[in-house]
Amino acid sequence: MRTVSVAVAGLGTVGRETVRLLRARRAQLRERLGAELVLTAVADRAAAREARALGLPASVARFTDPLEMARRAGADVTIELLGGTDAARRLALSVLGRGGALVTANKRLLALSWPALTRAAARSGARLAFEGAVAGGVPVLRALELSLVGDRVLGLDGILNGTTNYILTRCEEGLSAEAALKEAQELGFAEKDPRLDLSGQDAAQKLSVLAGLVTGGWLAPGSFPVVGIQAVTARDAAYARERLGSAVRLIASLRFSGTPSAPRVEASVFPTLVPLGHPLAAVRRQYNAVLVRAQSAGDLMFYGRGAGAGPTASAVLADAFCAARDLLGQLPSARPVPRALTLASADDTPSGFYLRLEVRDRPGALSRIAGALGRERVSIAAIHQDRARGAAAVPVVITTHPASLGAFNMARRRILALEDVAPRHCAMRTLA
Ligand code: HSE
Repeated sequence: MRTVSVAVAGLGTVGRETVRLLRARRAQLRERLGAELVLTAVADRAAAREARALGLPASVARFTDPLEMARRAGADVTIELLGGTDAARRLALSVLGRGGALVTANKRLLALSWPALTRAAARSGARLAFEGAVAGGVPVLRALELSLVGDRVLGLDGILNGTTNYILTRCEEGLSAEAALKEAQELGFAEKDPRLDLSGQDAAQKLSVLAGLVTGGWLAPGSFPVVGIQAVTARDAAYARERLGSAVRLIASLRFSGTPSAPRVEASVFPTLVPLGHPLAAVRRQYNAVLVRAQSAGDLMFYGRGAGAGPTASAVLADAFCAARDLLGQLPSARPVPRALTLASADDTPSGFYLRLEVRDRPGALSRIAGALGRERVSIAAIHQDRARGAAAVPVVITTHPASLGAFNMARRRILALEDVAPRHCAMRTLA
């Protein structure tokens, strides 16, 4: 029987689960592959201890330095689960440079180093697979890369961050955002630094990976609008549900245009009002989902767990299997070649907006706010002011007809400069 050697760098929770599954599902994988996936090396700062705890046989080489593992073990498939970006990047470039297959679940590495990694892979003809980097165990990358290879992907809307979705849905249930974040951290899917989740940066990195996979180009993090959920309160969630018939979700969106050889993309991450009947409104707690719009297949929805050792290890193992199958069959990559990606302006697709303000209740305040919107030609769809109960400021919620992001932001700046309006506010989009 032919064998394909596998090395795993990083024996954290995902690494350990990957090794466990690789061995537990060995027979199943052998039958489907017609070859044996053999673990030949592991690397970890505590490699000896972890290998012992996992019950690995002596034939599996242990390394404390992943680069040394790459040099000396030279496995057919290397699985990078180190976390962080520096050591992971060095390992990835070393493996891809010599034409070895690399599997990673490291979205940050991919988002920041997309051009270097994809060029190294294209130059050597190496496999680069990363199903676990976006939406954990949900096989949306494989669908975009292979199931839709004969189609044209027009765009997608995704809930790509479990922590913020957990917070938003717990807020709908009456919990405060702070208490919900604490729960998410206890459940273990929040990032070490939760600001990456709350600010939308984690979702933005995943969006960059998705854009790269569809077009071959690099959607650089920081090059498109990203708004997190820090300003969204339980009251906004309740207001959206009760008065606007919508759920609040952090939606990461891509809209593709141009041609396959000169792709263009519009990208954004925004807290968004999603009508309750829409499938993305049904995505609750830590679940992820991606709604893909394809020209011929129409709308496709992918749903599941976006984080955790089991879902991520499942995706990683499938990547290792596919890389091994391609190696055995000497198949060329089906991925678009690395190329330049043009960023379309976020103003290209108008959408409706939600703006919650804290306003001093006195004559003329509302007319000045309406005037600022009017000056930027942003049309008000509805306006609601709570009855003042002796408070210095009252919440005012404005929803608008579709407008460009640029015009809305300009009007928002004018409004926040008004004497009667407090700086604290919440702006959301409606699903376009
Ligand atoms: N912090 C991420 C989330 C985990 O909340 O979805 C997986 O990327």
